[in-house]
Amino acid sequence: MKIKTRNLVLAVLAAAGLGVSALATAGDVPQGLRGGKSVAEEALQPGNYAVEKDHAPAAREYVQQPPLIPHKIDGYTITTNFNKCMDCHSWTRYRETGATKVSLTHFKDRDGKELSNISPRRYFCNQCHVVQTDAKPLVGNTFKKAEGLR
Ligand code: HEC
Ligand code: HEC
Repeated sequence: MKIKTRNLVLAVLAAAGLGVSALATAGDVPQGLRGGKSVAEEALQPGNYAVEKDHAPAAREYVQQPPLIPHKIDGYTITTNFNKCMDCHSWTRYRETGATKVSLTHFKDRDGKELSNISPRRYFCNQCHVVQTDAKPLVGNTFKKAEGLR
Protein backbone atom coordinates (compact mmCIF):
# COMPACT_ATOMS: atom_id res chain seq x y z
CA MET A 1 0.00 0.00 0.00
CA LYS A 2 2.73 2.40 1.03
CA ILE A 3 4.74 1.67 -2.14
CA LYS A 4 1.69 2.24 -4.34
CA THR A 5 1.02 5.63 -2.79
CA ARG A 6 4.62 6.63 -3.37
CA ASN A 7 4.46 5.56 -7.01
CA LEU A 8 1.30 7.57 -7.46
CA VAL A 9 2.97 10.65 -5.95
CA LEU A 10 5.98 10.18 -8.27
CA ALA A 11 3.69 9.80 -11.29
CA VAL A 12 1.84 13.02 -10.41
CA LEU A 13 5.12 14.89 -9.92
CA ALA A 14 6.44 13.61 -13.26
CA ALA A 15 3.23 14.67 -15.03
CA ALA A 16 3.46 18.11 -13.43
CA GLY A 17 7.06 18.34 -14.60
CA LEU A 18 6.06 17.48 -18.17
CA GLY A 19 3.31 20.08 -18.02
CA VAL A 20 5.76 22.74 -17.01
CA SER A 21 8.27 21.94 -19.74
CA ALA A 22 5.48 21.81 -22.37
CA LEU A 23 4.36 25.28 -21.25
CA ALA A 24 7.89 26.65 -21.35
CA THR A 25 8.32 25.71 -25.02
CA ALA A 26 4.93 27.09 -26.13
CA GLY A 27 5.35 30.36 -28.02
CA ASP A 28 2.59 32.32 -26.30
CA VAL A 29 4.01 32.24 -22.78
CA PRO A 30 4.70 35.81 -21.53
CA GLN A 31 8.40 36.51 -21.30
CA GLY A 32 9.34 36.85 -17.64
CA LEU A 33 12.35 38.68 -16.27
CA ARG A 34 14.44 35.68 -17.30
CA GLY A 35 13.21 35.96 -20.89
CA GLY A 36 11.66 32.47 -20.76
CA LYS A 37 15.04 30.86 -20.08
CA SER A 38 15.31 27.87 -17.75
CA VAL A 39 16.69 28.51 -14.28
CA ALA A 40 19.84 26.61 -15.24
CA GLU A 41 20.71 29.15 -17.94
CA GLU A 42 22.31 32.50 -17.33
CA ALA A 43 19.81 35.27 -16.56
CA LEU A 44 19.34 38.27 -18.82
CA GLN A 45 21.98 40.88 -18.15
CA PRO A 46 20.84 44.37 -17.22
CA GLY A 47 21.80 47.00 -19.78
CA ASN A 48 25.08 48.80 -19.39
CA TYR A 49 23.56 52.19 -18.56
CA ALA A 50 25.60 55.30 -17.88
CA VAL A 51 24.85 57.35 -14.79
CA GLU A 52 24.11 61.01 -15.60
CA LYS A 53 27.01 63.42 -15.35
CA ASP A 54 27.14 65.53 -12.18
CA HIS A 55 24.69 68.43 -12.48
CA ALA A 56 22.85 71.01 -10.39
CA PRO A 57 20.02 69.64 -8.18
CA ALA A 58 17.08 68.56 -10.35
CA ALA A 59 13.61 70.11 -10.10
CA ARG A 60 11.18 67.98 -8.07
CA GLU A 61 8.05 66.43 -9.57
CA TYR A 62 5.97 66.66 -6.39
CA VAL A 63 6.72 68.32 -3.08
CA GLN A 64 7.09 65.16 -1.00
CA GLN A 65 9.61 63.63 -3.43
CA PRO A 66 13.02 62.59 -2.12
CA PRO A 67 15.27 64.76 -4.33
CA LEU A 68 17.22 62.83 -6.96
CA ILE A 69 20.96 62.55 -6.44
CA PRO A 70 22.56 64.92 -8.97
CA HIS A 71 26.05 63.39 -8.72
CA LYS A 72 27.80 60.04 -9.09
CA ILE A 73 27.85 57.89 -5.95
CA ASP A 74 30.45 55.26 -6.92
CA GLY A 75 32.31 54.21 -3.80
CA TYR A 76 30.05 56.16 -1.45
CA THR A 77 29.55 53.31 0.98
CA ILE A 78 27.20 53.22 3.93
CA THR A 79 28.16 50.80 6.71
CA THR A 80 27.12 50.48 10.34
CA ASN A 81 30.08 52.63 11.35
CA PHE A 82 30.34 55.13 8.54
CA ASN A 83 28.00 56.93 6.17
CA LYS A 84 29.84 58.54 3.27
CA CYS A 85 26.80 60.65 2.33
CA MET A 86 26.80 62.29 5.75
CA ASP A 87 30.48 63.10 5.26
CA CYS A 88 29.20 65.93 3.01
CA HIS A 89 25.49 66.30 3.79
CA SER A 90 25.58 66.48 7.61
CA TRP A 91 24.93 69.75 9.41
CA THR A 92 28.56 69.83 10.58
CA ARG A 93 30.01 69.31 7.09
CA TYR A 94 27.70 70.94 4.53
CA ARG A 95 29.28 74.41 4.67
CA GLU A 96 32.71 73.08 3.76
CA THR A 97 31.44 70.68 1.09
CA GLY A 98 28.77 72.81 -0.57
CA ALA A 99 26.24 69.97 -0.25
CA THR A 100 22.61 70.55 0.77
CA LYS A 101 22.24 69.73 4.47
CA VAL A 102 19.86 66.87 5.25
CA SER A 103 16.48 68.27 6.18
CA LEU A 104 15.01 68.44 9.70
CA THR A 105 12.64 65.60 8.85
CA HIS A 106 15.67 63.28 8.80
CA PHE A 107 16.18 63.70 12.55
CA LYS A 108 12.82 62.32 13.59
CA ASP A 109 12.47 58.70 14.67
CA ARG A 110 9.47 56.57 13.71
CA ASP A 111 7.54 57.71 16.80
CA GLY A 112 8.01 61.37 15.89
CA LYS A 113 10.68 61.92 18.57
CA GLU A 114 13.32 64.49 17.59
CA LEU A 115 16.90 63.16 17.66
CA SER A 116 20.21 65.03 17.70
CA ASN A 117 21.66 62.95 14.86
CA ILE A 118 20.36 61.32 11.67
CA SER A 119 17.46 58.98 12.43
CA PRO A 120 18.03 55.25 11.90
CA ARG A 121 15.05 55.24 9.52
CA ARG A 122 16.91 57.73 7.32
CA TYR A 123 20.33 56.14 7.61
CA PHE A 124 20.29 54.21 4.33
CA CYS A 125 20.01 57.21 2.01
CA ASN A 126 19.77 55.12 -1.18
CA GLN A 127 16.50 53.61 -0.02
CA CYS A 128 14.90 56.88 -1.11
CA HIS A 129 17.49 58.96 -2.98
CA VAL A 130 18.65 57.62 -6.32
CA VAL A 131 20.78 58.64 -9.26
CA GLN A 132 19.43 58.61 -12.82
CA THR A 133 20.83 56.72 -15.81
CA ASP A 134 20.39 57.15 -19.57
CA ALA A 135 18.07 54.09 -19.69
CA LYS A 136 14.91 54.65 -21.74
CA PRO A 137 11.55 54.02 -20.01
CA LEU A 138 10.40 50.41 -20.57
CA VAL A 139 6.79 51.46 -21.11
CA GLY A 140 5.16 54.79 -21.96
CA ASN A 141 3.36 56.76 -19.27
CA THR A 142 1.40 59.97 -18.87
CA PHE A 143 2.92 61.12 -15.58
CA LYS A 144 2.72 64.87 -15.05
CA LYS A 145 4.39 67.08 -12.49
CA ALA A 146 2.22 67.88 -9.45
CA GLU A 147 0.04 70.90 -10.18
CA GLY A 148 1.67 73.08 -7.54
CA LEU A 149 5.09 72.62 -9.18
CA ARG A 150 4.20 73.31 -12.83
C1 HEC B 1 31.88 64.66 -1.64
C2 HEC B 1 30.67 65.27 -1.11
C3 HEC B 1 29.37 64.54 -1.28
C4 HEC B 1 29.06 63.23 -0.97
C5 HEC B 1 29.98 62.17 -0.38
C6 HEC B 1 27.67 63.05 -1.30
N1 HEC B 1 27.13 64.21 -1.78
FE1 HEC B 1 25.21 64.55 -2.34
N2 HEC B 1 25.67 66.43 -2.93
C7 HEC B 1 26.90 67.02 -2.81
C8 HEC B 1 26.87 68.33 -3.42
C9 HEC B 1 28.05 69.32 -3.49
C10 HEC B 1 25.55 68.50 -3.92
C11 HEC B 1 25.03 69.65 -4.76
C12 HEC B 1 24.54 70.80 -3.98
C13 HEC B 1 24.16 71.94 -4.93
O1 HEC B 1 24.72 72.03 -6.03
O2 HEC B 1 23.28 72.69 -4.55
C14 HEC B 1 24.83 67.31 -3.58
C15 HEC B 1 23.49 67.10 -3.87
C16 HEC B 1 22.75 66.00 -3.43
C17 HEC B 1 21.32 65.87 -3.51
C18 HEC B 1 20.34 66.87 -4.13
C19 HEC B 1 19.72 67.78 -3.08
C20 HEC B 1 18.62 68.63 -3.68
O3 HEC B 1 18.25 69.60 -3.02
O4 HEC B 1 18.11 68.34 -4.75
C21 HEC B 1 20.99 64.67 -2.97
C22 HEC B 1 19.62 64.06 -2.83
C23 HEC B 1 22.22 64.03 -2.55
N3 HEC B 1 23.28 64.86 -2.84
C24 HEC B 1 22.29 62.78 -1.95
C25 HEC B 1 23.48 62.15 -1.64
C26 HEC B 1 23.55 60.78 -1.19
C27 HEC B 1 22.37 59.87 -0.97
C28 HEC B 1 24.87 60.50 -0.98
C29 HEC B 1 25.50 59.19 -0.57
C30 HEC B 1 25.20 58.05 -1.42
C31 HEC B 1 25.62 61.71 -1.28
N4 HEC B 1 24.74 62.67 -1.70
C32 HEC B 1 26.98 61.84 -1.13
C33 HEC B 1 28.02 66.46 -2.23
C34 HEC B 1 28.15 65.16 -1.80
C1 HEC C 1 12.86 57.15 3.97
C2 HEC C 1 13.27 57.95 2.82
C3 HEC C 1 14.53 58.79 2.96
C4 HEC C 1 15.77 58.41 3.43
C5 HEC C 1 16.20 57.05 3.94
C6 HEC C 1 16.62 59.57 3.30
N1 HEC C 1 15.91 60.61 2.76
FE1 HEC C 1 16.62 62.46 2.32
N2 HEC C 1 14.77 63.07 1.79
C7 HEC C 1 13.64 62.27 1.73
C8 HEC C 1 12.49 63.08 1.36
C9 HEC C 1 11.07 62.58 1.19
C10 HEC C 1 12.96 64.41 1.19
C11 HEC C 1 12.13 65.64 0.82
C12 HEC C 1 11.32 66.10 1.99
C13 HEC C 1 12.16 66.44 3.16
O1 HEC C 1 12.98 67.38 3.08
O2 HEC C 1 12.03 65.72 4.15
C14 HEC C 1 14.39 64.36 1.47
C15 HEC C 1 15.24 65.44 1.41
C16 HEC C 1 16.63 65.38 1.43
C17 HEC C 1 17.53 66.46 1.09
C18 HEC C 1 17.12 67.87 0.65
C19 HEC C 1 16.98 68.75 1.82
C20 HEC C 1 16.52 70.13 1.45
O3 HEC C 1 16.67 71.03 2.30
O4 HEC C 1 16.02 70.35 0.34
C21 HEC C 1 18.80 65.99 1.24
C22 HEC C 1 20.09 66.74 1.00
C23 HEC C 1 18.69 64.61 1.69
N3 HEC C 1 17.36 64.28 1.81
C24 HEC C 1 19.77 63.80 1.95
C25 HEC C 1 19.66 62.54 2.54
C26 HEC C 1 20.79 61.77 3.01
C27 HEC C 1 22.24 62.19 2.93
C28 HEC C 1 20.27 60.61 3.54
C29 HEC C 1 21.02 59.49 4.24
C30 HEC C 1 21.80 59.89 5.42
C31 HEC C 1 18.83 60.63 3.34
N4 HEC C 1 18.50 61.83 2.76
C32 HEC C 1 17.95 59.61 3.68
C33 HEC C 1 13.61 60.92 1.98
C34 HEC C 1 14.63 60.18 2.54
